[in-house]
Amino acid sequence: MTKFSKVAALAAFLSAGVSAGALHAQTAEVLHWWTSGSEQAALAEVRKVFEASGGEWVDTPIAGGGNARAAAVNRMLGGDPAAVFQFSIGQQLRELADQGLLANVDKVASEENWDQKLPPLIVKAAKYDGDYIAAPINIHGENWMFYNKAALEKAGVDVPKSWDEFVVAAQKLKDAGIIPIGLGGQPWQERIMFNSVLLGVAGREFYAKLYSTLDDDLLDSDTMRKVFETFAALKPFVDEGSPGRNWNEATSMVIKGDAAFQFMGDWAKGEIIAAGIEPGTTVGCAFAPAIDTAYIMTVDAFAFSAMDGEEATPAQAKMAHVMLEPDVQIAFNKKKGSIPARLDVPADSFDSCAQTAIRTLQDEKTHLVSTGLFGVPSAVSGAIDDSISNFWNSTDMSPAEGQAQFHQAISNAK
Ligand code: BGC
Repeated sequence: MTKFSKVAALAAFLSAGVSAGALHAQTAEVLHWWTSGSEQAALAEVRKVFEASGGEWVDTPIAGGGNARAAAVNRMLGGDPAAVFQFSIGQQLRELADQGLLANVDKVASEENWDQKLPPLIVKAAKYDGDYIAAPINIHGENWMFYNKAALEKAGVDVPKSWDEFVVAAQKLKDAGIIPIGLGGQPWQERIMFNSVLLGVAGREFYAKLYSTLDDDLLDSDTMRKVFETFAALKPFVDEGSPGRNWNEATSMVIKGDAAFQFMGDWAKGEIIAAGIEPGTTVGCAFAPAIDTAYIMTVDAFAFSAMDGEEATPAQAKMAHVMLEPDVQIAFNKKKGSIPARLDVPADSFDSCAQTAIRTLQDEKTHLVSTGLFGVPSAVSGAIDDSISNFWNSTDMSPAEGQAQFHQAISNAK
């Protein structure tokens, strides 16, 4: 054997994954917050393919997005990073890249032409300084309204098209002994409902402008006052068990008909699917009432801790590759309730709510971004969640006071 062929044989041996060293190189710890039934089932689709291609998956689930993100960052800062960690793409991930904590997956991205296969907005958000810092796996929408059809029928109400109609319907549901809104009383869930009200009352241009500029005049405006008044009008329609409730417990209330509506991202649809229900049948989906059509997007992605320089390790690169494989995008997203991040993946087998999402995203005017992690810096995002939650849970704050403290909190944080 020549020296060259010996090296080639060794390389083939190693990449076939038969030595202990190769196995080690293909091991990735995956830190995530997908702990509900549907989330676990969806993630298992990724794991299956990663393992079938020689990867070893070390699972680190941490319940709650905020907790999981904090754990990922603390582990990086403490010098014990998880190789792969869930994050949503957007400003907060860029803050980590800015501190040099992330590896890039440029090699996989360029070999597989992500620039062409992902929507431009996602390409932009998944890159930092021209490098891909995350593998986007899906697109979720946050301004959905799920509803139990039998509950609506029992109370004799139609699916509301405006927030005024919603309040009338909610009172009828309450009179019929049905909890009008199944709400998980946690700040991020309260913010999701608030943003649906904001979009619904003020419209998509206002929403986009408000969160991209954090402009004082908009924060102070009469329109914003109306948003707070409308949000406050929903308070009587939530049950006493709401505080602290998990989002999937609220979804389960809607599935059973104990609650009529849930305002939540379409990960709730994942739970509906996991319960064996075809979305759009007994449990319906519609956008939350709004004066125009828009989709508040959030994009789940996995980022890669810098383990060994700026470039992804082989296990990280393998993970990025697997997450964007067309079959994985289909299998994962059908269970997750989201739609594929890739534009070229056939989605005709997805449910009717997903088809609505796909149609809506065809028009660029309808693309809005979530304030959760996508649209605003981390300090502002935290301030938004806290002040909305304060207002929602206060028994004596007027809408005008709620608006003022929202404005103040954002001004202090920006
Ligand atoms: C993520 C979803 C997830 C939800 C609840 C959101 O931040 O985007 O993928 O299902 O949190 O865990």
